[in-house]
Amino acid sequence: MPQSEISKQRKQTLIDLVNRIKIRSDVSYNYILDVMSIRLDDIYTEGKFSKFRARPDIESDYELKEMLALVHAFVDNISIDNRCTARDAIQLFDLTGMQLKDFALLKDIFPEAEFDKAWEMYQQEQKLAPNKDNSGDFFVPLYPQLFIGREDNVKAVYDKLGLNAHQKRVPFTIVRGYPGVGKTTFINRIVHDPKIKAAFPDGILWTSLGFQGSVLTAMKKWARQLNAFHIEQVNELNEVVTLLRNVLSARKVLLVVDDIWNETDGLHFKALATAHTTFLMTTRLTEVANKLAGVPEEIYVLPTLSQEKSLELLGYIAPQTSRQYKTEFAALADTLEGLPLALRVAGSLIEQEHGLGFDVHQLIDELQDKHSKRLMSGQAGSIDEATGTNPTIALLFERSVSTLSPEAQAAFAYLGAFASKPATFDIPAMKAVWDVEDPVPIVRMLVGRGLLEPMGSQRFQMHYTLTMYAQSMLDEDSEGTR
Ligand SMILES: Nc1ncnc2c1ncn2[C@@H]1O[C@H](COP(=O)(O)OP(=O)(O)OP(=O)(O)O)[C@@H](O)[C@H]1O
Ligand SMILES: [Mg+2]
Repeated sequence: MPQSEISKQRKQTLIDLVNRIKIRSDVSYNYILDVMSIRLDDIYTEGKFSKFRARPDIESDYELKEMLALVHAFVDNISIDNRCTARDAIQLFDLTGMQLKDFALLKDIFPEAEFDKAWEMYQQEQKLAPNKDNSGDFFVPLYPQLFIGREDNVKAVYDKLGLNAHQKRVPFTIVRGYPGVGKTTFINRIVHDPKIKAAFPDGILWTSLGFQGSVLTAMKKWARQLNAFHIEQVNELNEVVTLLRNVLSARKVLLVVDDIWNETDGLHFKALATAHTTFLMTTRLTEVANKLAGVPEEIYVLPTLSQEKSLELLGYIAPQTSRQYKTEFAALADTLEGLPLALRVAGSLIEQEHGLGFDVHQLIDELQDKHSKRLMSGQAGSIDEATGTNPTIALLFERSVSTLSPEAQAAFAYLGAFASKPATFDIPAMKAVWDVEDPVPIVRMLVGRGLLEPMGSQRFQMHYTLTMYAQSMLDEDSEGTR
């Protein structure tokens, strides 16, 4: 049966969700695996469960009772610490296309309060889901407001993109670097340069793919940007690739694919290559970069910021304290390994704590202490490629969030947990998700902490690493209430 891309995406989300639940359970891992391996195959058995089909974009569904049995399996047969939450169950139901009225059955399984909370959260998530018709998401993002250093890095990539007359253009470049090192900011800055715009007169096509991005959707947006409306009706990915490649064949374009998480996605984009196309991609994953690059020269590793540049960044974020605590800040820049995301959060936290009259020494000491322990245990440099944190950064986030008011903490958790990538919000969206009269004071608080970043035009962005942290807060919360 031909599977549409949207179904593939849903299937992947479902598998991810199931994996997430599985990870919680060592004891019952095999049990769930057994249950899921049967059910996952069943999802695409055409017609079998068609009477439960809720929406036309889903190819086929679980039968309700099978789904319920599955949820029961998660809930009943697994130790109390490891079973799925009401929210997991709701998401499972939704992903398999259950109708809204069927969700009510979940109430029989979960305590009403837990179900209500999960359902409310889920509805907010739907409100925040990106509007599929909003092609703006796929245009180049807003110009980064703060951009420190990187002069040499920019020059090196310009050379690859063919801006240097003495150097041959490299048709494919993939920028790799730690999560939060600044890849997106870096290429965003590059594509805004008039020199780049001039070098690619037929346009810059940008997509932010992310963990669960859809290649098909991204390519269709590109097709629309190129006025190739005939491609919009096509749902077969290979066919879209062929048609889009034809459209691109005579054009001098820069194809930018930010944040690739798997080789397959990258290869689909690479298949668009013509004699005139130039690719600029990014990934945080070393393995993905290695697999996508034909030769090592196609990989550009974006380094962390030097101590000097880290201090310059801290100087912007924490103008008062960085002057006052010069030695401590120099040590902090090392501790946070020149990672801009961590530096922004740390700088904001310290500046705010100081503004409130708190002793910032203790905070810096605590971070340093954790870092020294890590060095001694031989774990230096171990920023996890998937989560984007190490114990020091995790502690920093924890301190940053836990010193917020309970209201702001909850607001952070909600925003993060329901954000998709790229996670940008405007004021009305935050008002809706927080259900408050005036969201601005909370926005101010989160921006002040570096947890939310102003993008200009009253839009704000939350970094993926922070959204993951927010998600973990909600997970802990729901585990604690069981
Ligand atoms: N050169 C820079 N100057 C100032 N701030 C920066 C710089 N580079 C990145 N940042 C800030 O650091 C944070 C992380 O940057 P960015 O999102 O570009 O990282 P990334 O490498 O793309 O992360 P990911 O792997 O999660 O996609 C953002 O808050 C960004 O504003
Ligand atoms: Mg990025």
